[in-house]
Order: sequence, then structure tokens, then C-alpha cells
Amino acid sequence: MVVERLQLENFRNISYADVQLDPHINVFLGKNAQGKTNFIEAIWLFSALKSFRAVKETDFIRFGEEKASAILSFKAFERSQTAKMEFFKEKKKELTLNGAPLEKMSQMVGNFCAVLFSPVHLQLITEGPAGRRRFLDLALCQLSSRYLTLLTEYNRILRQRNAALKLYGGNLQKLKGLLEVWDLRLAQCGAKVMEIRSRYIKDLQQQACEIHRQLSSQKEELTLRYVSVCENVGEEEDIASVLEKRLKQKLEEQVRFGITPAGPHRDELDVRLNGRAAKLYASQGQQRSAVLSLKLAEGDLAGRKIGESPVYLLDDVMSELDETRRSFILEKLCGRQVLITCCDDRAVDSARVCSFGVENGIFSKNL
Ligand SMILES: Nc1ncnc2c1ncn2[C@@H]1O[C@H](COP(=O)(O)OP(=O)(O)OP(=O)(O)O)[C@@H](O)[C@H]1O
Ligand SMILES: [Mg+2]
Repeated sequence: MVVERLQLENFRNISYADVQLDPHINVFLGKNAQGKTNFIEAIWLFSALKSFRAVKETDFIRFGEEKASAILSFKAFERSQTAKMEFFKEKKKELTLNGAPLEKMSQMVGNFCAVLFSPVHLQLITEGPAGRRRFLDLALCQLSSRYLTLLTEYNRILRQRNAALKLYGGNLQKLKGLLEVWDLRLAQCGAKVMEIRSRYIKDLQQQACEIHRQLSSQKEELTLRYVSVCENVGEEEDIASVLEKRLKQKLEEQVRFGITPAGPHRDELDVRLNGRAAKLYASQGQQRSAVLSLKLAEGDLAGRKIGESPVYLLDDVMSELDETRRSFILEKLCGRQVLITCCDDRAVDSARVCSFGVENGIFSKNL
């Protein structure tokens, strides 16, 4: 998959840009706060359908303007395609693919795929389990609209169940009657989400472990484990009924805290280096490398699933890595399209790349 061109109008600090990209390595060089991440964010939106910075969609519109637009011309499945996104102050965003309006964002899934690695991803190791669940969900939602639908449905039922715990907590009899239906649906839907996650983590583990061995010169073993109710399900049982049983336990406690105690929203992705929890024992450099291995593995799996390599967006990560790791990445991504942002040109060997200068939202090709 290759981005051929990106046109932006009034997107964040970029009033107008029309950038033709190289199918291999593209480097965006500029001082802080010039618009490099904004450019990456615009491309990312076409893949993830939401930003990696927690924002309202109107934040994309340049201050003082009424609308913002982004047009992505890309080549996928041997076909040149165009997707367009428009954001408005006063109405919902509009998305078209090859000229046809898409009613739901999920219709874009599988058409364009990018993998993003930015400093926010370091939280993947250092912070709590919610970030790791988000990582899994985002990777899977980009690959499967079925997963996106299941997860949306699961979250909807979960919200209703939690609301019922609060609303009818004083009347356990009535609450039990209501939960009878919701627990069954929640368990069925949750079990499917868990099965897909569990399969994905097995593949991710294999791929990430191999990459990490190479990245660490055979010194470190990266292991991943999906910690969930479904881990201890015996052969005769199915995940849905085990989960449903868990939902029925300790109802008084559930009412007191207003939370549903088990299900995909409580699961964890355990990341270990040489058998020890990466969050607690890994050095900063090791944590960064572990995230990098996970991200590269995510890209490999995405490529395998959709049949084409995704576009790699490396925002602000090269300058933090040592020379050996930088060249490992570029070698590993050889033949794929990569966009790299950085503040100084020492981060990437400039002879091999197409480079752009970014200043105050204006992009110019460096010759
Ligand atoms: N809606 C908006 N309208 C105008 N400017 C905006 C809007 N949203 C963000 N900006 C500005 O865009 C500027 C560039 O942001 P960006 O994150 O792209 O910088 P960057 O080049 O990646 O810098 P760094 O090297 O520090 O990461 C920031 O100064 C930010 O305040
Ligand atoms: Mg930036």
C-alpha cells in the first residue's frame, strides 16, 4: 500500500499542502510545532478513523475556519484510489471513497491501512492495562469490520448493564430479572471478542518475539500473554458460559461499585522481557524496543491479513533510538512505504531518502 499524494486544506496549522510522496522512505524535517505530526495524523485518520491524540473532530479545523479537508490518493490492490474526509464546524464529517459517499466510517475498514508508532505508544508498556486493550482493539478494528461491530455492540450492552446496576441496585429481585437477558448477550458477544483477541495475540507473540530477538541481538526474549477469563476454559466448556457464570457472582459487590467484574473490558495483555514484567523491570531503552517490536509485528500481521504491506508512520521515534536500532528498522521496512518525522537530519541517512522541510504548516521538497 502506498500513499501517492496528500492534499490538505485548513487541517490544523496547515492552511494548504499538496505533497507527492515517494513509495519508499519519506522524511519530514522541521523544528518543533511546525506541522509534522499534523500531517501524519491526517494520513492516520484514513486508517484508524480516529486520531491518536484525544480530540474532538472540530479540533482538526484550522483556528478561525469553518471546515477542513484531507484528500488521500493511494495505491492499494494494484488500483489507484482516492479517499476524502471533510470536517465541519456545524455538521458531521463526510467521507468519500473513489467519489462514493460512505455512510459509516466502518465501510472504510480494509481499504487503506497504516501502522503508527509515536511517542504516545511508550505508554503501551508503562501505563495500565487500558492502553494495551486499546492497542489490541485498534489493531483488530483496522483489520476486521466484524470485530469493530462486535466491540461496539459489547460496549453498548456493557454500558446498559452498568447503568442498570446503578439504577436498580436497591431492588435486587428486579435487577436479577433484567440481567438475565443482558448477561447472556454480554457473554455471547464478549466471548467472540475474546476469541478474536486471543488468536491475534498468539500470532503477534510469534512475530514480535522473532523481531525482538533480532532487534536485541539475540539477548532478549519478548513474550506476550492474553490474561482473561477465557484462559482457563476447559475443553468441554465454552467461553460464553464461563463468562456468564462470572457475571452472576457477587452481585451485591457489583452493585456497590457499579462495575461489571469480568469480560473483555477487564482483560490484560501481559508483556514480558526475559520472563519479567516489562512495565516493572525493563529499562527505558528496552521498553522502547519492546514497543517497536510490537508495532513492527502489528504491521507484519496487518500485511498478511489484508494482502499488502501497510504504510508505516514513524512520528518522532528515530532520534530516540541508537544507530543499530535505526538501521534495523529501515532494513526491516525495506520495500515498504515509510514516513518519518524528526527535528534533525542526523536521524536518518539522507542519501537514501526523499526529504521534505516543514515550516509553519508549509511543506517543501528538499532537493
Ligand atoms: N486547529 C488548529 N488550528 C491551527 N493550529 C493548530 C490547530 N491544532 C493544532 N495546531 C498547531 O499546530 C502546530 C503544529 O503541531 P504539530 O504537532 O504538527 O507539530 P510538530 O511539527 O509535530 O512538532 P514537534 O516536533 O514538537 O512534535 C502546533 O503549534 C499546534 O498548536
Ligand atoms: Mg510532532
